[in-house]
Amino acid sequence: MKLARSKNGSADSVQDTAGPSDPTHGARHVAIIMDGNGRWAKRKHLPRALGHKKGVEAVRNIVRAGGELGLEVMTLYAFSSENWNRPEEEVSDLMGLLRQYIQSDIEEFVENGVRLKVIGNYRALASDIVAMIDNAIERTAGNRKMTLAVALNYGAQDEMLRAVRNIASRVKAGEMEPEAIALDDIAAALDTADLPPLDLLIRTSGELRLSNFLLWQAAYAELYFTEALWPDFDRIELEKALQSFGHRERRFGGR
Ligand code: FPP
Repeated sequence: MKLARSKNGSADSVQDTAGPSDPTHGARHVAIIMDGNGRWAKRKHLPRALGHKKGVEAVRNIVRAGGELGLEVMTLYAFSSENWNRPEEEVSDLMGLLRQYIQSDIEEFVENGVRLKVIGNYRALASDIVAMIDNAIERTAGNRKMTLAVALNYGAQDEMLRAVRNIASRVKAGEMEPEAIALDDIAAALDTADLPPLDLLIRTSGELRLSNFLLWQAAYAELYFTEALWPDFDRIELEKALQSFGHRERRFGGR
């Protein structure tokens, strides 16, 4: 279901413009909390690291599927600002997988028209990863088929804190009055400023939490929770989530 909306995501009018054959069911921007790599590995008596490795394969497949289905944006929660609290070995495994993923998939992004974007304070990552990311962002900047926004060292509260600091410094510089700060100014100061409003937020592995992901952007997003563990989340699962989205009646606080 596609809705006309103002820039800050509120509904101006409600009209279903998505036909029954639209595999996105009108969703433009889908975000996923990819959870359950550890449990997937445990169930198979495999090391946790293998669960994450399998998780990267699921990322690769779902990015392809998202592009083929016609999504405009997929935002994936790959590493939260709280994930630093995991054992050092696991953090190092995840960073290693991130390096491999960017290196191996950048050509596919270029070929398939995928624009890479990163949300979160990724500049705090190791300098070689930052350089790799900056290079991939630059090489894919002109791509238009789909935007893949990867959340790295991301926390929604940290994102909002950075936005508040940014706006406060503009007020301090005399560029704007506190009373003039509008919802759109806040949205424009977030890492997602250039992305369309979030339509659907998926979390895998049966956990019913947002875990500090896209808290501002999720204000009117539809939520979808599935028991599937992230390594098992495939195109069919994504299609199921989109079908569920297609049946939701979105009112954005109206009636
Ligand atoms: C949750 O599994 C998953 C994460 C830590 C984030 C997702 C990471 C990946 C899919 C791999 C790296 C991604 C990229 C893009 C290179 P968990 O360990 O919390 O699972 P558990 O709750 O079952 O223990």
